[in-house]
Amino acid sequence: MITRIKKINPENPEKSIIEEAAAIIKEGGLVAFPTETVYGLGADALLAEGAKRIYAAKGRPSDNPLIVHIADFSSLDLITDEIPDAARALADAFWPGPLTMIFKKSDAVPLATTGGLDTVAVRMPSHPAALALISESGGYIAAPSANTSGRPSPTLAAHVAFDLDGKIPMILDGGPVGIGIESTIVDLTGDVPQILRPGYITRDMVEDVIGRTEDDPGLTSDDPDVHPKAPGMKYRHYAPKADLVLVDGDIDKVTAAINRLAAENREKGVVTGVICTAETEGLYQADIVRSTGSREDEVSISRHLYALLREFDALGAGQIYSECFSDLDIGTAVMNRLTRAAGHKIIHV
Ligand code: TXA
Ligand code: MG
Repeated sequence: MITRIKKINPENPEKSIIEEAAAIIKEGGLVAFPTETVYGLGADALLAEGAKRIYAAKGRPSDNPLIVHIADFSSLDLITDEIPDAARALADAFWPGPLTMIFKKSDAVPLATTGGLDTVAVRMPSHPAALALISESGGYIAAPSANTSGRPSPTLAAHVAFDLDGKIPMILDGGPVGIGIESTIVDLTGDVPQILRPGYITRDMVEDVIGRTEDDPGLTSDDPDVHPKAPGMKYRHYAPKADLVLVDGDIDKVTAAINRLAAENREKGVVTGVICTAETEGLYQADIVRSTGSREDEVSISRHLYALLREFDALGAGQIYSECFSDLDIGTAVMNRLTRAAGHKIIHV
């Protein structure tokens, strides 16, 4: 299959291109498109055939459910049997935007889309190209991140092409995304709302609107029998080929430790990469030193993270060290992704 990459104006996508992309979706085909979080791989969420194509293109385990993307709040009526008050309040506050909510699903949603679950994850993205494509395609697009399963989510159309070239008919290229990590997922089907995946919308922001929430115990549990409620969170994910180790502590100790480790690696001939910030970039001596962003502009940290993990792969890094970001508001989400990419390897200095 030839993959066509179509450049679009991210603010005001060309109608003719959106119509062409929507025609593919309506026939059960796949189109990758930008959202404000990461690029998504879209199919008609109400066609089992579309969902099956997504799993095949990504090499994704079919028990890992897809998020249904809508462009209008009233679209919820067809796909959910019950809209809790908390969901209305969160939608008022954060939709369109980087928040996904879990609902009881209606019969209109095929089990192929929800990985066999009787719940459905729904998000209304804010990216104009995403909204235009969803509306033009009939209102319901199932879209996981548009990466090969296990690779970092794509934040540029080039990342999608690297993973999926030849496997999908079209990629809409709207340039770099704004947030760079996937949406916050909140489960509203239980007694107390639970955060299943941290994201740009923080727990404090959610609690300001609906009161007390809990973290899904499966997110942080060491007990192998306690699984995350979002099936996707159980897979090793976002992982670069190199061994990644996080280094936590006061920043002067962190830089000293990383420089010492990098020097040891050089003796052994291991190419070493460092993930740091604009504030600390000048303090490291290693083969590949990359700032992911500035601590003064938190979303710049999440925006470039996945691109860096891909770049270290491309440059043949054998070992990567990263600073930690727990002190930032976006730190919970960034550390969730980094910790899993690192297979939980952290050095405290
Ligand atoms: O920002 C995002 O959410 C991006 C963009 C494209 O919108 N999408 C995304 O999709 O990250 P994906 O498939 O890579 O991650 C979806 C996560 C998975 O961990 C999946 O297991 C979980 O959502 N999920 C989906 N439906 C669920 C459900 N009914 N119950 C619990 N978890 C669910
Ligand atoms: Mg994903």
